Amino acid sequence: MDNMCSKGAKESPEELKKQILELKKQKNAVILAHYYVNGEVQDIADYVGDSLALAQKAAAECQQADIVVMCGVNFMGETVKVLCPDKKVLVPDTEAGCSLADSCPADAFKAFVEAHPDHTVISYVNTTVEVKGLSDVLVTSGNARKVVDSFPADAKLIFGPDRNLGSYINAQTGRNMLLWDGACHVHERFSAEAIAKLKEEHPQAKVLVHPECRRPVALMADKVGSTAVLLKYAIESDAQEFIVATEAGILHQMRKSAPHKTFIPVPPTDSTCGCNDCSYMKLNTLAKLRDCLVNERPEVTVSAEAAAAALKPINRMLELSK
Ligand code: 13P
Ligand code: SF4
Repeated sequence: MDNMCSKGAKESPEELKKQILELKKQKNAVILAHYYVNGEVQDIADYVGDSLALAQKAAAECQQADIVVMCGVNFMGETVKVLCPDKKVLVPDTEAGCSLADSCPADAFKAFVEAHPDHTVISYVNTTVEVKGLSDVLVTSGNARKVVDSFPADAKLIFGPDRNLGSYINAQTGRNMLLWDGACHVHERFSAEAIAKLKEEHPQAKVLVHPECRRPVALMADKVGSTAVLLKYAIESDAQEFIVATEAGILHQMRKSAPHKTFIPVPPTDSTCGCNDCSYMKLNTLAKLRDCLVNERPEVTVSAEAAAAALKPINRMLELSK
């Protein structure tokens, strides 16, 4: 397979896809992709989904594979490795970090948790494996409400690291969870003003908002939800136009699933690139995916100790999501 390794070579997408499919079969590999990666990477994946669905796939359906490739960001690769410890877990680019996970360093979060010993700790999956290990249960944007609802109304809860998802759940449930002050730089770019302007131009359009967006943006929404929830709503709704406030990768599946409908991305307010891309997610390319299958690296590694600590809250989340 050495002749497949790229370094500088410029193969066509078709050639790369052919090689990926061959390698996948030869190496008994499964490819998972998040809705935010490039469309062509989504199209070649075995499973495309939101963070919850990908964790569920890793737990259930990747067990027959020898290699699992996670096309997403590093915390997703770590989650797969924790759930599939005996598999070789690969990521196309180890530079694929996450500003939200970065906004919650494990040592600072540990001090926060220790300062509130009577609180149960609920963390978003967008965290490092170390932060997961400090948590009692994890959530994704797809199941946060359900997991939080599983605790008594008067339970003392810490929610980290996303202050926007946390305050959305607080508002939904009437709770007063203690929030870690973290955020995703992509979702914080959206403004209520930009949505109001688009609504003037498209008065019939439904507004779809990811809960990582700020509160005033969520208040403009017809539907707030994870990428999978927003996609389902767009497919099932009678509306023909949708204003979409989340990372632009989801538009690929929306347009594919409902080609006759119109999807309008909300322009970000303070982005130098002028787009809604998560630059980390966009590091996943067909060429890097092919190379990682050829080289069987970069490989995700998680220490046994960190994996054991993280597995408990991940499994608790998966149990509560059934
Ligand atoms: P979901 O996959 O839960 O919609 O989360 C979005 C996200 O930011 C993943 O990085
Ligand atoms: Fe992280 Fe935001 Fe990118 Fe999701 S969109 S991976 S939360 S930086």
